[in-house]
Amino acid sequence: MDDYNRREFIKTTVPGLLGVMLSLPSLCALATRANACNGRLKSDQSMHWEAFLEAVAKEAAKQHLDKWNEEEYLQKIARLTKSLYLEDPVISQAMEKVAVRLKKGWVDFHDLEKNLDFAVCLLQFDVNEVIKPHNHPGMTGMILCASGEIHAQNYDMFKTIEEKEIDGARTGKYLLHQSLDCTLRKGDVSTLTSQARNIHTLKAKAVTQLIDIFTPPYNKERSEKSCWYELDEAPVAGSKTIYEAHLKD
Ligand SMILES: [Fe+2]
Repeated sequence: MDDYNRREFIKTTVPGLLGVMLSLPSLCALATRANACNGRLKSDQSMHWEAFLEAVAKEAAKQHLDKWNEEEYLQKIARLTKSLYLEDPVISQAMEKVAVRLKKGWVDFHDLEKNLDFAVCLLQFDVNEVIKPHNHPGMTGMILCASGEIHAQNYDMFKTIEEKEIDGARTGKYLLHQSLDCTLRKGDVSTLTSQARNIHTLKAKAVTQLIDIFTPPYNKERSEKSCWYELDEAPVAGSKTIYEAHLKD
């Protein structure tokens, strides 16, 4: 049998202790994940509301970094939103509220979360209800179709033909490039960034519920900068994707 003296005990313990200290962050991460599995994730790995919000907040905080990549961020929060447990009481109670509003003919939205970095909202559309073309200045948006069917078209600003502001009233004439034309069904995602696909319009083909996340959320400044557009029905001569558009009050 080995014969340990006190000095050998100390020699073996100090490096061991250092090893444990170095391992603490990963041990903590493992413990957090274990807790998540026990209380915050469903057995099918779908995320409870609080765990979802925490994960989105962690990603949204990165928008303040110089090298933030909006497209990568959208992919990450789209994955998180797809794994959100839609039967969570926060979601199901919001669904019930908008369902009651629909019966009364009030089709609108329900804020699920709003803070300085991002906002999560539940929107409900009645059949054929339309949100006309509008932009999202300096914002990144992710829309998940939770149920129903909706036609989504996204545009990029192609050219400003003229723009004026007289006594606070803005007028403008533009060419917009249609960058996306698709139908969203349950589980489908549509995204826009501050630089791409930033203008969009939606028209419901059936009663539809959407969960959207905007980063950062609308505030007074961004709301004042946002614009509504009226687009020509047909593209300009010689193009299939360029449309003339006017600012709409
Ligand atoms: Fe929008």
